[in-house]
Amino acid sequence: MLFEMAKYPKFRARRIRKSASIRRLVQECRLDITDLIWPIFVGAGKGVAEPVSLMPGVNRVSIDLAVRLVKDAAARGIQGIAIFPATDESKKSSGCEEAWNPYNLANTATRAIKDAVPDVSIMLDVALDPYNIHGHDGIVQNGKVLNDETLECLKHQALSHAEAGADILGPSDMMDGRIGVIRTVLEEHGHKDTLILSYAAKYASAFYGPFRDAVRSAGALEGDKKTYQMDTANSNEALRMVQRDLSEGADMIMVKPGLLCLDICRRIKESFGVPTFTYQVSGEYAMIVAASSVGAIERSDAVIESLVAFKRAGCDGILTYFAIEVADQIT
Ligand code: PBG
Repeated sequence: MLFEMAKYPKFRARRIRKSASIRRLVQECRLDITDLIWPIFVGAGKGVAEPVSLMPGVNRVSIDLAVRLVKDAAARGIQGIAIFPATDESKKSSGCEEAWNPYNLANTATRAIKDAVPDVSIMLDVALDPYNIHGHDGIVQNGKVLNDETLECLKHQALSHAEAGADILGPSDMMDGRIGVIRTVLEEHGHKDTLILSYAAKYASAFYGPFRDAVRSAGALEGDKKTYQMDTANSNEALRMVQRDLSEGADMIMVKPGLLCLDICRRIKESFGVPTFTYQVSGEYAMIVAASSVGAIERSDAVIESLVAFKRAGCDGILTYFAIEVADQIT
C-alpha cells in the first residue's frame, strides 16, 4: 500500500456495504448474461424431451425442440450455446466414423439452429466419446487409447463441424497435438474464422458422471480417463498445457471442472491474459440442485454465487447448465 490505511473509526469497512446501491457501485466484478454459454443435450426423433435422470431440470431434446429452446434463450439474451449429441447405440463403433458424418446429430442440429437463430454462437465439442463403443475420447486398441490414430479422426470431426457452421470448436479429448492438426485442417479448407476453445486444463474429474449419463457414454466407458485427462493434483502442468495449445493455434482456453479449479483459472488468466473460460460441469450442477432440493442451500443465491466466483477468479466466460434459469435474474 502506498498510503497508510485510516484506522477505526475513521475507516469503517461497513460503509461500502451499507445499501444495495452502494454495494453495487463498488462491486469488483459482475456477471453478465453475455458471459454465459448454455450447454444442451440433443437426441434423435421429433418432439422428444427426455429428462436426464441425474440432472433434474435438464432434458435431452430432439432437434426441433432444441431450435425452440435456443430461440427462447436468445430472446433472454443468451448469445452462446454448446450442443452435445446423445448418439444412438446403433451408430457407435470402434472407429467412431459417426463423429464426422455430415448428417450426425451435432452437425444437423448446428445447421438447424444456425438457420433459425443466426446470431447465437454455436460451440461443438471435438472428442470421440459420444460415438465410441468404448466410451473413450480416443480410438481404443487392446485396452489402450491411441493418440496419433485419434488425431486423424479429430481432424475429420473438426472439419465436419466447421462445415456445418459451428462458430467455436472445443477440443475436449486431451490428445497430444490436436490443436495443431485441427488448426491446420481448418486453414487448409478456408475456415479461417473458426475459433478453437481448447480444453487445455481438463482434469480427470469425478464430477462428469451426470454428463456421461446424458450423452449415453457412461455405460460404455471402460476404465477411466486418467491416461489423457490431467491429474487433479497438478497446477504447473495446466500452465504448460495452455502454453502449448496457444502455440498450436488455440484462441481461447477452457478450465474444467469449474469450482474445483478456481486457482487454475486465476493462474492462467494472470500468466497468459488470454480469453479464459470455465465449465461448471454436470456434477457441480447436480450438487447444487441436490443440496437445494433438500433445503440445505437456497438455489438461486447459490447459483449466482458460484457463477460470480468464476468471474472473480478471472474467467471471461462460463459454460453452465444454469444459464437459462439465471437469464432473467442477471439481464
Ligand atoms: C467429453 C466431455 C465430457 C464433458 C464435456 N465433454 C466428459 C468427459 O470428459 O468424460 C463433461 C461435461 C460435464 O460434466 O458437464 N469429451
